[in-house]
Amino acid sequence: MSRIRIGEIELNVEQRGTGRPLLFVHGFPLDHQMWERQIDEFSEQFHVVARDLRGFGGSDCHGSTVLMEEYADDLAHLLEALGVDQKLALCGLSMGGYIAWQFWRRHAERLSHLILCDTRALADTPEAAATRLETAERVLREGPNCLVDVMIPKLFWERTRSQDPLVVESMARVIESAQSAGVAAALRGMAERRDVTAWLSDIDVPTLALCGQHDAISTVAEMQDFAAAIPGAEFAVIPDCGHMAPLERPRRVNEIIGDFLRASGG
Ligand code: MLT
Repeated sequence: MSRIRIGEIELNVEQRGTGRPLLFVHGFPLDHQMWERQIDEFSEQFHVVARDLRGFGGSDCHGSTVLMEEYADDLAHLLEALGVDQKLALCGLSMGGYIAWQFWRRHAERLSHLILCDTRALADTPEAAATRLETAERVLREGPNCLVDVMIPKLFWERTRSQDPLVVESMARVIESAQSAGVAAALRGMAERRDVTAWLSDIDVPTLALCGQHDAISTVAEMQDFAAAIPGAEFAVIPDCGHMAPLERPRRVNEIIGDFLRASGG
């Protein structure tokens, strides 16, 4: 793990392996540790980079609202700081996917492949955005612990919660140790994010969308719809898991990502 300065902040960055760059962007309110099984698997063939987003894990926090565009620009600055000049495969889960859309829009020249795990193209409804803003205030008052009971049932399939408690517990610990200001800034940023549906038909990099069969946040039907709008995109449903497919079913997810990258020249 190293700390890399980009402008006014330092980011915690895990880098492993050599080869073509493959970047992982974590979901909310987590950090790079959610990608542990993917980092282990893919660092044998790729230069794997997994950073903590600003305000998460060990990365500095900056700004009371962080837009998805800003997280995407942080990533471009990080690549410059790391001297990564090859095109990269970008894999984001959920909020990481919201950031991946923005990265494609703003830094398409740097992108070779998009991998969208358990994410959405739609914006929040006004009600969902209002709830996020209330939750941001609550986290600032009470700390991130108040998110654990709300988030864990949404993130993990019920059977994962009963059959794989260690994995679920490890993410509960990550949530508990999150930075309140960083969590609040991300909630405000997600509340403001735009609907990107109109962009989908212009995406011209090989794209894989994958979704846990029981995902309660980004449903199979919704993901299937957006994947169908991206020219040539592959879509896969991962059986027996929820929103955290890469953690709940790492072997299957790794096989699908590996096959996709091999078949599309990654
Ligand atoms: C995530 O997993 O990143 C979040 O659940 C995304 C969201 O709340 O929309």
